[in-house]
Amino acid sequence: MIKINDLIKKMTLEEKAALCTGASPWTTTPVERLGLPELTVSDGPHGVRRVADVNDLIAASLPATCFPTASCMASTWDVDLIHAMGQALAEECIALQVDVVLGPGANMKRTPLGGRNFEYYSEDPYLAGQMAASFIAGVQSKGVGTSLKHFAANNQEFRRLTISAEVDERTLREIYLPAFETAVKKAKPWTVLCSYNKLNGSYCSENHRLLVDILKDEWGFEGFVVSDWGAVHDRVASLKGGLDLEMPGPRERRIKAVEKAVRSGDLDEAVLDESVRRILGIVFKAAETSKGGSFDTTAHHALARRMAAEGMVLLKNNGILPLKEQQHIAVIGRAAEEAHFQGGGSSHINPTQVDNPFKELQKLAGNTELTYAEGYPAGTAFDQSLIDAAVKNARSADVALLYLALPDSKESEGYDRADLDLTPQQVALIKAVTAVQPKTVVILNNGAPVVMRDWINGAAAVLEAWMMGQAGGGAIADVLYGKVNPCGRLAETYPLTLVDTPAHINFPGGNGEVRYGEGIFIGYRYYDAKEVPVQFSFGYGMSYTSFTYKNPNVSAASFKDVDGLTVSVDVTNTGKVAGKEVVQVYVHDHKSGLVRPPKELKGFAKVELQPGETKTVTLALDFRAFAYYHPAYKRWITEDGEFDILVGASSADIRCTQTVMLQSTLELPCLLNRESTLRDWMEDPRGKRVIAPLFQQMAGQMQTAFGGGEGEGTGMDSFFMEMPLLRVLHYQESTLPMPPEDLVDGLLAQVSQND
Ligand code: BGC
Repeated sequence: MIKINDLIKKMTLEEKAALCTGASPWTTTPVERLGLPELTVSDGPHGVRRVADVNDLIAASLPATCFPTASCMASTWDVDLIHAMGQALAEECIALQVDVVLGPGANMKRTPLGGRNFEYYSEDPYLAGQMAASFIAGVQSKGVGTSLKHFAANNQEFRRLTISAEVDERTLREIYLPAFETAVKKAKPWTVLCSYNKLNGSYCSENHRLLVDILKDEWGFEGFVVSDWGAVHDRVASLKGGLDLEMPGPRERRIKAVEKAVRSGDLDEAVLDESVRRILGIVFKAAETSKGGSFDTTAHHALARRMAAEGMVLLKNNGILPLKEQQHIAVIGRAAEEAHFQGGGSSHINPTQVDNPFKELQKLAGNTELTYAEGYPAGTAFDQSLIDAAVKNARSADVALLYLALPDSKESEGYDRADLDLTPQQVALIKAVTAVQPKTVVILNNGAPVVMRDWINGAAAVLEAWMMGQAGGGAIADVLYGKVNPCGRLAETYPLTLVDTPAHINFPGGNGEVRYGEGIFIGYRYYDAKEVPVQFSFGYGMSYTSFTYKNPNVSAASFKDVDGLTVSVDVTNTGKVAGKEVVQVYVHDHKSGLVRPPKELKGFAKVELQPGETKTVTLALDFRAFAYYHPAYKRWITEDGEFDILVGASSADIRCTQTVMLQSTLELPCLLNRESTLRDWMEDPRGKRVIAPLFQQMAGQMQTAFGGGEGEGTGMDSFFMEMPLLRVLHYQESTLPMPPEDLVDGLLAQVSQND
């Protein structure tokens, strides 16, 4: 620390300004005079995209392992596996001389149309936060840094460099920030990458509230904030807003602008020094890890295969899978010959090798005859002759395997999806093949949900194989043949149609802004609340075995919020093969001051069980598991009352429910004011104490005057409960000994005296 402060004193203004802007597209500015090395960053997050020439923004990258993308990684629900992948990634960074990898992406999947959803984990902030934290911990355990991105509310590609995400405070705190918050607090990423977009009218790159008040001060982030590539508009404003490093470089004009602002007094040099201090801290930390050497391409390929297999989600299976000894399998679809294993854009990896799905299948198929038909052309063109040939192939076989990949034109960084459909040719192909071959398995390669209701009934099985990474071809074969028992679970809901999705009428916005009108209700929070049927629920996925849940237990029937709770359940593998189950814990609040989703994920664990084996799964629920963010109090609050602890195999498959009583230990300030309604007064214990006598009197008078209303909470009673106390008093002004305002102020004073 002292060393850094001393160094800052020795640095000239020019050197400090230059350090805060990249020297090249991928490196920071070294200060040779003082022995300060440069820092090299490279894209991720599912592999290392180390460009061969750091002076070239879009240069070809060196070979590295392409792991499955985040959709698949999250579907493993396996924090240990993500950690292991992070470590492997760090080994590759070391070999490829990279100090910081630009990932993970912890943004929410607000709508399945988001072009970069394949790079993001989930529609649920708790799951995304755990995944991001584990990834970061894995990478950083080897002395390589991460860049948690894209901070924040980066949920679409439409006008991605300029759109303003209009998000209310509660939604931000409960949905769009928690994954970042968890990752920052739990895993301490070296850097955070701020997003291109504006948040509530202010560019994230110069958003003081986001970068300083929340990230640095409230969450205690100690590293530096780097801009997304080209996200800075005004360098001086961004430094003031808490953006430490601008990328990419070089940007001579920016450096000069900073120098000028300091000299003119527009920018306090202490602000610049703070950014320099943060950057130097990471530069020195990175220098502790010596770089170079090689990495184990074979071991990493094997890890990529395991991750892919464990992230794939078996969505439907009428018993056809795992494949048994067959005479003849028709393998249909281009994706069997050309693996679709990653998405387009900055995360595009140059793989060390790529498994060919057909050849990998052949290796496990033994003596079974495999015949191939292309099924559909590249892109979105339509070619009936390919369907006809596929149908012929399928008819002559015992089983058909349909390998279908969404074309790049339908899904990539840089543009959103226009629909949730496979191509018309692919849909026609499924229908035609399943019509002649009931034993058809559909295997999907895509980064985000596709709709299936037009064709799923005809398929015997459906496997969601994602953008599966370079070893995915082998992983598909592993799952089809039962070498890996499927254990992926959806980290996002599969809707029946696009119009059912939560953000549908608020996406992608216009006039420079997108209003997050659905608020906290994204993903299953929305489908649950609106009782909208879905194709597949959040948390869902099939296995080749079955599991039972027994003996649910909570550590206390009544507990204090600060103490939290532990929940346990015995899970048994009741089938004939070993398998893994993902035990999910959701919390349901019976009654709350502000509306809450019917249930929210607050814990999960993945357990491996041999046939007949039982394990007790225990999960801890802390204060935050029961709290919600209250914008009026500007903090997370709990309220006394009952909660259901729901333990299940998906958000729609709850196996045990325990009801517990929470006691809040919070002493919240009184929010009553002149505008407070009678209901507000009566629902606040302090307010109720003060106005109870007056309330009785007024209730009687209102009843006489207006009639109606029988019993508490109905009719006239409710009518006047919705009125501000002050307004009610206005009606009776002539009978009052003082102006109503003075009367209310007096009552408010009594409340604060009792406080
Ligand atoms: C992307 C980032 C990426 C950066 C550097 C940007 O366009 O949004 O995710 O890390 O480029 O390639």
